[in-house]
Amino acid sequence: MSSVSGTNTNGYKNIGKSDIEMTDMVQKTMREIAQQRKYLFFGGKGGVGKTTMAAATSLWLADHGYNTLVIATDPTVSLPEIFGQRIDGTEPTKIDGVERLHGLNINPKEAPGVFQRRLEGMTSGFGNPLDKEMMSTPCAEEMAAFDQFVGYLQDESYERIVFDTAPTGHTLRELSMPFDWSTFMADQIRDRKVLASSLGWNDPEETLGMLRKEKERYDNAIATLTDSSTTAFNLVLLAEKLPLEETARAVKDLKGFGIQVPSLIINLVIPPESLQGNQLLTRRSENQARYLGEIAKRFDQKAIMTVPLLDRDVQGLESLRSIGHVLFGG
Ligand SMILES: Nc1ncnc2c1ncn2[C@@H]1O[C@H](COP(=O)(O)OP(=O)(O)OP(=O)(O)O)[C@@H](O)[C@H]1O
Ligand SMILES: [Mg+2]
Repeated sequence: MSSVSGTNTNGYKNIGKSDIEMTDMVQKTMREIAQQRKYLFFGGKGGVGKTTMAAATSLWLADHGYNTLVIATDPTVSLPEIFGQRIDGTEPTKIDGVERLHGLNINPKEAPGVFQRRLEGMTSGFGNPLDKEMMSTPCAEEMAAFDQFVGYLQDESYERIVFDTAPTGHTLRELSMPFDWSTFMADQIRDRKVLASSLGWNDPEETLGMLRKEKERYDNAIATLTDSSTTAFNLVLLAEKLPLEETARAVKDLKGFGIQVPSLIINLVIPPESLQGNQLLTRRSENQARYLGEIAKRFDQKAIMTVPLLDRDVQGLESLRSIGHVLFGG
């Protein structure tokens, strides 16, 4: 793979600041974001480079001394592919050849088992039907995968957790789940109190206690997701019109949940030195320059990072380290 350090296009001329000024400002900010937040999310449209940025960030953090876990919440094989090894769906797997880095590839097909065991463990002894109710709903797999994800929002084993999320729409639906769940639990608590008193049950407290604990778990997840000192949701996009509009929508929707987006990563930016009179590339590059300028104007409060288009796919530790260097510096 060609080195990307020489092709860093941060401070792209059309962004309107001098290269050096922009590079310093952006790299420091991205670095700060990664160093100061425990939970780092990478979202964006399909295929823009979310898994690549999440994997590169997790490796950079591990290399810089943070005990890190990278979690794919998207049911794809990209995380194992990018690291070139098996990554388990239920237990964090050590990434070969890297100290302090584990990966988890949450698999919705395996997750219901994990979820059901957790519910059964909690409800054993008093035959509560809640687990059966939950597991029979049509979106049980998605819910179960999400429940596993929520567990990591209260984690104490890692210093940094990096989330490679599903494309934007899907992620937003998932992120709304703890909000819905918390309300669902509150309703369950209320309904079961009414049911218990009308049926003359003596001690509904055990069931209610379990439901309260569940509600607390989802309330804590909401608190973590919406705490901008703990969590950063970074969006990856391309310098094109539609991705720009979709990013603006995602920023707004995330804000609706109280989730901040401190940074944008613009991927696949054509390195100016690769143009060499090629007309097609030059036009594409001009088109990108226009949108880079617009992105900088519309999102002037955010850290904006550009990552160059490389001459091949990103795979393996060496190329991930190069991307990490572009994003965060040495
Ligand atoms: N800067 C880059 N230069 C060249 N190839 C890249 C670059 N960034 C990502 N890629 C390649 O683009 C493809 C898509 O990247 P990636 O899998 O990270 O996207 P994604 O947003 O996670 O996709 P999905 O929505 O399918 O999960 C991969 O083959 C990756 O190696
Ligand atoms: Mg991906």
